[in-house]
Amino acid sequence: MKKILVTGGCGYIGSHTIVDLIENGFEVISIDNNSRSQPSVLDGITKITGKEVKNYKVDLCHYEETFAVFQENDDIAGVIHFAAYKAVGESVEEPLLYFDNNLMSLINILRCIKEFNVPHFVFSSSCTVYGNPASIPVTENTPFQPAVSPYGSTKQIGEEIVLQTTAYGADIKAVLLRYFNPVGAHPSCNIGELPVGKPKNLIPAITQTAIGKLPQMQVLGNDYKTKDGSCIRDYIHVCDIAHAHTLALKRLQENKQEKTCDVFNLGTGTGLTVLEMIKTFEKVSGVTLNYAITNRRPGDVEAIYANNDKAKNILGWQCKYNAEDMMHTAWEWEKKLSADKNLFTTVNTDLN
Ligand code: WQD
Repeated sequence: MKKILVTGGCGYIGSHTIVDLIENGFEVISIDNNSRSQPSVLDGITKITGKEVKNYKVDLCHYEETFAVFQENDDIAGVIHFAAYKAVGESVEEPLLYFDNNLMSLINILRCIKEFNVPHFVFSSSCTVYGNPASIPVTENTPFQPAVSPYGSTKQIGEEIVLQTTAYGADIKAVLLRYFNPVGAHPSCNIGELPVGKPKNLIPAITQTAIGKLPQMQVLGNDYKTKDGSCIRDYIHVCDIAHAHTLALKRLQENKQEKTCDVFNLGTGTGLTVLEMIKTFEKVSGVTLNYAITNRRPGDVEAIYANNDKAKNILGWQCKYNAEDMMHTAWEWEKKLSADKNLFTTVNTDLN
């Protein structure tokens, strides 16, 4: 029950999860077409774990090529599916690109899992499925509001596809993991986030401004009904997210999950505002951040953070990293990227 297939293994959360899986005794292979990631991320994984990870450079939207990977690896004990486009703004401009890529890849991987009798499946979902929640903190039973972007819709629809596939006729058990806001980098600084083009997410926008790659960071609105007017999110270290995948997989392999499909929130349970995250960054880095308050970003949720009791009580999952650790590792990673420009040629798919 050792070999795990990770799709999107060269990506941000995928690479950190591969490290955690290897450190917990699993053998890992990856499928990643590197359309939004760097093959050299695998070198970083090897530096940390000492293990080589084979990546199949395959587009999961091509069923035959995906099927061939399963034919070559008939001992896959489980699949963790990360591979998807995840730029909220891009999804608004290219909805069909997102529905085609994110849903076809999911359907193909599920078809192969069924065909090859792979018993366990972990799906990378997101707090974005909750939309603008009516009440916070959100639990796994909080009703979905309409998705605020086509990206969010692909996660809502994706969850439903997994739920129904495992409920009817497939001998598969699945777990849906709803990430809140993954941030930070592996403490070794050998892997971290590699934003595609100009960063859309808060933490890389902060660190790229601080290092001088961006002239000024924008705080997207400070007129929300929150303690300081800026939005609230549940920022969570990527290594904590990664370890939850290992725990969820182990629970499946130990046959402790009765449901055909279970779901867990992966958040710290603490909401922090944008301005609080900036203050935390300035404290750990000693850098005064150059930022300006600008208008709200359409589609932004005012406030969301997790009730994470279920993951704590059932998975035995505990967050190890706090907001200062998140900012510290993100900053160290940014400085390393800047110091060694050949380390990772940033993917130049310039998202407008
Ligand atoms: C966080 C807060 C912004 C940039 C999205 C997806 C989610 C996940 C993470 C994929 C918001 C503010 C941001 C900036 C800012 N994606 N902000 N200035 O939108 O909560 O979540 O990314 O897994 O599924 O929905 O994350 O980091 O973009 O924004 O003020 O330059 O930071 O307004 O309040 P978000 P984010």
